[in-house]
Amino acid sequence: MDLYEHQARQLFEEHGIPVPRAEVTDSPKEARAIARRLGGRAVVKAQVRTGGRGKAGGVKLAADPAAAELTARQILGMDIKGHRVDTVMLAQPVDIDTEYYVSYVLDRTAGGFLAIASAEGGTDIEEVAASRPEAVARVPVDPAEGVTSAKAGEIAEAAGLPPGTVDTLVRLWRVLVAEDALLVEVNPLVRTRQGRVLALDGKVTLDDNARFRQERWGADTPAPGDPLEAAAAAKGLNYVRLDGEVGVIGNGAGLVMSTLDVVAGCGARPANFLDIGGGASARVMADGLSVVLADPAVKSVLVNVFGGITACDAVAEGIVQALESVRLTKPLVVRLDGNNAARGRAVLDRRAHPGVEQATTMDGAARRAAQLATDA
Ligand SMILES: Nc1ncnc2c1ncn2[C@@H]1O[C@H](COP(=O)(O)OP(=O)(O)OP(=O)(O)O)[C@@H](O)[C@H]1O
Ligand SMILES: [Mg+2]
Repeated sequence: MDLYEHQARQLFEEHGIPVPRAEVTDSPKEARAIARRLGGRAVVKAQVRTGGRGKAGGVKLAADPAAAELTARQILGMDIKGHRVDTVMLAQPVDIDTEYYVSYVLDRTAGGFLAIASAEGGTDIEEVAASRPEAVARVPVDPAEGVTSAKAGEIAEAAGLPPGTVDTLVRLWRVLVAEDALLVEVNPLVRTRQGRVLALDGKVTLDDNARFRQERWGADTPAPGDPLEAAAAAKGLNYVRLDGEVGVIGNGAGLVMSTLDVVAGCGARPANFLDIGGGASARVMADGLSVVLADPAVKSVLVNVFGGITACDAVAEGIVQALESVRLTKPLVVRLDGNNAARGRAVLDRRAHPGVEQATTMDGAARRAAQLATDA
């Protein structure tokens, strides 16, 4: 999950990274009062979870409180790359001497983190990175060692940042660790004409898998754009909507991914990814089925389960119970294999629901589900 700039700013502040004074509002009148509190002038900044706000007209300097009100009125309601601006942050303007870029980002291929830094930060950083990659330093960070002062010194030197940024580099790493972030970025980190180092803009992406211990941001979770994805997220399901017609439910992300491939290999298109996880209970199965069936594009549903810790008979019981609460509006093909598969199949045979068919192999199940979808 991406945080808003003002949330990132708050985290920076809590971890001792110097930031300009700032306040957030959704009202132009209040913007005027805030500008007054900040000393008259203010930078009015659209709060949207996307970059390039400045270039889109979402970051403007207001010379006095009246101008701040006017500017806030202009920016509020603006559309920036499909994001509507509901709030603005007013920040105290600082006298910028130099703008730098710094970030830590998870590097999955390397199994570690990467520090990316440049002495040429600001709104053109993407251009700099593309046209002169040598101006952007990339320094691997061992997650076990983290960013010590020595490491921060190494990063600063590689990027040509002044020694005054080292403390911020160390603290920024602490933000990443303490907040379970996959990315922390400051652009620009500036040196002011008075020689202070300040973070003027921040982007933080939190690891959704750590959400259970980062409850603070829970209420602010952006609703997924797709209504079915939103409904699934509300039920805690691992669901991604795709654009096909065969609904897919499985246990384990790897199995579900291969099921999508096999469905595609049968000439059909999967309608979704849904991993009901290891401990697939009746409740989860019912929730999953109802989300998948609610997709009007779905013509058939394939349940592909490999029994492990949760045995197939428990999953089959789950399906039977789910059929009590969910009206099966489309044909369901079930393939059970692995732990207690025979018992699981027997459970479904006993239930003998007219809409449920069983298949013994993954290929066979996918073929049948694809065929049912085509025939529908
Ligand atoms: N408090 C401030 N005082 C003075 N100038 C500022 C301030 N905040 C931002 N700026 C200027 O505005 C530019 C754009 O601001 P900011 O980086 O916050 O917006 P952005 O367009 O979203 O950036 P990004 O390119 O990272 O998406 C900064 O590079 C800086 O030059
Ligand atoms: Mg920026």
